[in-house]
Formats: sequence, structure tokens, C-alpha cells
Amino acid sequence: MLKDKVAIVTGAAQGIGKAISISFARDGATVVIADVDLIGAGAVVSEIQSMRKKALALLVDVSCSREVEAMVIRTLDEFKKIDILVNNAGITRDSFLIRMSDENWTQVIDINLKGAFNCCREVAKTMIKKRSGKIINIASIVGLTGNKGQVNYAASKAGLIGLTKSLARELAARGINVNAVAPGFIETTMTEELSESLKEKMLGKIPLARAGSVDDVAKATLFLASEYADYITGQVINVDGGMIM
Ligand SMILES: NC(=O)c1ccc[n+]([C@@H]2O[C@H](COP(=O)([O-])OP(=O)(O)OC[C@H]3O[C@@H](n4cnc5c(N)ncnc54)[C@H](O)[C@@H]3O)[C@@H](O)[C@H]2O)c1
Repeated sequence: MLKDKVAIVTGAAQGIGKAISISFARDGATVVIADVDLIGAGAVVSEIQSMRKKALALLVDVSCSREVEAMVIRTLDEFKKIDILVNNAGITRDSFLIRMSDENWTQVIDINLKGAFNCCREVAKTMIKKRSGKIINIASIVGLTGNKGQVNYAASKAGLIGLTKSLARELAARGINVNAVAPGFIETTMTEELSESLKEKMLGKIPLARAGSVDDVAKATLFLASEYADYITGQVINVDGGMIM
């Protein structure tokens, strides 16, 4: 499906971003692994190269527009085009509102929301020129439902969904599809820090009665990146075992 496509995946050194990158590469894409963790990104590149596919690790802080601009220039130098962008880089800095610091608010918004804005703006320029492209933003069901202790994170993900829908309208006439994936409770380092009792409580709310895997999210993202999703834009696909309906 993704043969000869060039994809940038942010926050791809581990977790969901890594699973997306490996699934794209397995499907034939060349993948740019953009992350603040260059060692982790390099390890993902080695894994992809061992599959005899092409990949490149880049040190990028998505919240910095200069670094994002450099990422796009380097990708175009190296691979000549960008077909797919996955905005996956994201962090949590949880606390109840009255205890939340300015820094915890700003960091989460800067990385999760402004980071995606920075990447969309730079990549859209080249996608508009070739009149095709797929942009997939990794949001969260928390952006749809809200969550105690996560006003910063929920606001960033709700904002990302608004960005997705607005950009889908803006870029549709240029042949560019913009969609979001909203994962639910996925087993990664982000969720392994949760207490056992909270994990039990979350599992009780999932009709499919299991936590999601990074591969569950990667499969939905691969679908949206492929030609099978050519007539889908401005949508949010929840990958949450039916947690919210
Ligand atoms: N794990 C879940 O249950 C879950 C649920 C819903 C949504 N999500 C979303 O999925 C995405 C990936 O989550 P994950 O669980 O794999 O997280 P993770 O913490 O395992 O991985 C996040 C990656 O992003 C990178 N990163 C952090 N700040 C960055 C920056 N400024 N610039 C570039 N890279 C940066 C990290 O180095 C890391 O490699 C996030 O956007 C997260 O909000 C995760």
C-alpha cells in the first residue's frame, strides 16, 4: 500500500510512533523517525534497515519551528518528497488544575498542539505543490471526553481535533487528507506508570475487555495513510475497544 511513499513520523523513537513507523516500513514506505531521543530514533532506524527498508533518524523538537523547518528541508534533500505526516509526538504532565504550574500547561500545549501545527505548516507547503498527501494526527479519546487531572492534555488533544477538521477543509481542494486517530487505553510507557487500581478501573470500561496495543493504533494509522482512505477526511477514528461510542 505504501510502496515508494515517504513518511515523517514524529515521536517515533518508542511506543505508538515506533509501531507506526515499523508498520509503514513493512508496507514499503521510507520513514523519517523524528524525535528528541536520537538514540532511540537510531535504534528504530536500525530495526527498519534490518528489514531492508530505508529510514532516517532526525533530532527534532517539534515545539521548535526552526527545527521542524530543518526536518522538512533535510527530508526533501534526502528523499525528494513527503507523502505522509504523522503527528504523534506527545507528552503528559498531569495534575489537578489548582496545582498545575504554568510550565506544565505550556509544555503540553507547545509539544502536543503547537508541535503538530509546526509540522503541518511546513509539510503542507510541499504537499500543496504536489497536490497530494496524507496527514494523520494522533489525538486521544481524552480530547473528546475530558479527564480529571489532565486539563492541559485534554485541551491539547481537543485542540488537535479542531486543527484536524479545520485543516481538512483547508487542504481538501489540494488533494490532501487530514484525519485524526484517538487512542483509548493503550499499553505503553505512558500508561504503565498508572496504578494497578486505575488500570483495573479503565479495563472495566472497555467493551472489548482488553487494553489496546501499539499495533492496534498502527493499523488504523496505516489505513488512513493508504489509498484505502482516499475518500476520508476530517474524521476522528477512535481506537479504544469501544470505550466511547
Ligand atoms: N499510550 C496511550 O495510552 C495513549 C492514549 C491516547 C493517546 N496517546 C498519544 O499517542 C502518542 C504517542 O504516545 P506513546 O504512549 O507512544 O508515548 P511515549 O511517551 O511512549 O512516546 C512519545 C515519544 O515522543 C517523543 N517526544 C516527546 N517530546 C517530543 C518533542 N518535543 N519533539 C519530538 N518528539 C518528542 C518522546 O521522546 C517519545 O519517543 C502521544 O501523542 C499520546 O498523547 C497515547
